[in-house]
Amino acid sequence: MVQWRRVFAIIAVKALKAVRSVESVAELLAARSEMSGSVGFVPTMGALHAGHMSLIRQAHEENDQVIVSIFVNPTQFLPGEDFERYPRKEQADRLLCKSAGCDLLFLPPIEAIYGADEPVVKAPAVSGYILEGHERPGHFDGVLTVVLKLLGLTRPTRAYFGKKDAQQLILIRQMADRFFLPTEIIAAETLRQKDGLALSSRNEYLSDTQRTEALKISQSLFEASRLIKQGRSESAAIEAAMRQVLAPLAIDYVAITDRALRPIDAIVKGESLILVAARVGGVRLIDNMWV
Ligand code: PAF
Repeated sequence: MVQWRRVFAIIAVKALKAVRSVESVAELLAARSEMSGSVGFVPTMGALHAGHMSLIRQAHEENDQVIVSIFVNPTQFLPGEDFERYPRKEQADRLLCKSAGCDLLFLPPIEAIYGADEPVVKAPAVSGYILEGHERPGHFDGVLTVVLKLLGLTRPTRAYFGKKDAQQLILIRQMADRFFLPTEIIAAETLRQKDGLALSSRNEYLSDTQRTEALKISQSLFEASRLIKQGRSESAAIEAAMRQVLAPLAIDYVAITDRALRPIDAIVKGESLILVAARVGGVRLIDNMWV
C-alpha cells in the first residue's frame, strides 16, 4: 500500500510541469500563453503547509488552470532577518502542489526576477509603514514589488492570499485597485491547528515549549471574540484584555483597526480587524481576526 503511494507520488511529481532555470521567465511566459480559460495564481515562499494547500485547492476549484510560484523573495527580508534560514523544501512542496491541483509550478532563481537598477514599488507611506511595516520598515516595498512582478508574469484571472497576513492582503488589494490591475484578489480564511495556533511556515522554528507559549497569541484573539460576543466593543478594553493574555510574551503590537488599517475606538462588526504580533523566543509570529 505504502509502496503504491510512493509510486503515485513519483508519477505526480513527474507530471507536474515546473520551470526553474534562469530561462524560467521565458518558459513561464510560453507556458502561460498556451493556457486557455481562467487562471488562478497562488504565490508562495514554499515550505507549504495546509494553509497553502487550501489556497491551491480553492484556486483549482475556481479556475481552469492553476499556477503556483515558490520564491523566497530576498527584498522582503530586512538585514538580519531569516532569509538564509527560511525553510526550503522543494521536493515536498512539489508533491503537495501537484496533489492540491497545481498545473504549473514556477520556481525562479533570484536573477530571473531581479536585475540591477530597476523600478520598485513603494508601499503607501502610512498603511505600509505601520504595524508590520513599522516593525519591518521596507518589508512591504519588497512584497508589493515581487507580487507585481509575479502578477505581470502569470497574468492570472484571480490571485489568492491568506487573511493571516492581513496587512499584506490589504496592501496587495490596494495595489491591484490603484494600479488598475486586471486580476481579482481573493482573500482566503486563516487555517488553525486544533488548539488554535494559526498555520505559518515560521511555526517550524518553535520548540515544543515555545509552541505552547505561542498559543497565547490565538488565545488573546479568542478572548477578544468572547468579549465582543458579550456585547463589548470599546477598543481600549478589548486591547487591555488581550494584553493580559499575551503578557508572558514579548508583544510587538496589538491593534484594533478598520479594514483600511486605521485605528478605531470601537469595534464595528463586519468592518473591523484585530491584529497581533508577538515574539516567542526569537520567533516573531503574527495573527489576526476579521471581526
Ligand atoms: O505571503 C507570502 O508568502 C509572501 O509575502 C508572498 C506574497 C509570496 C510574496 O513573496
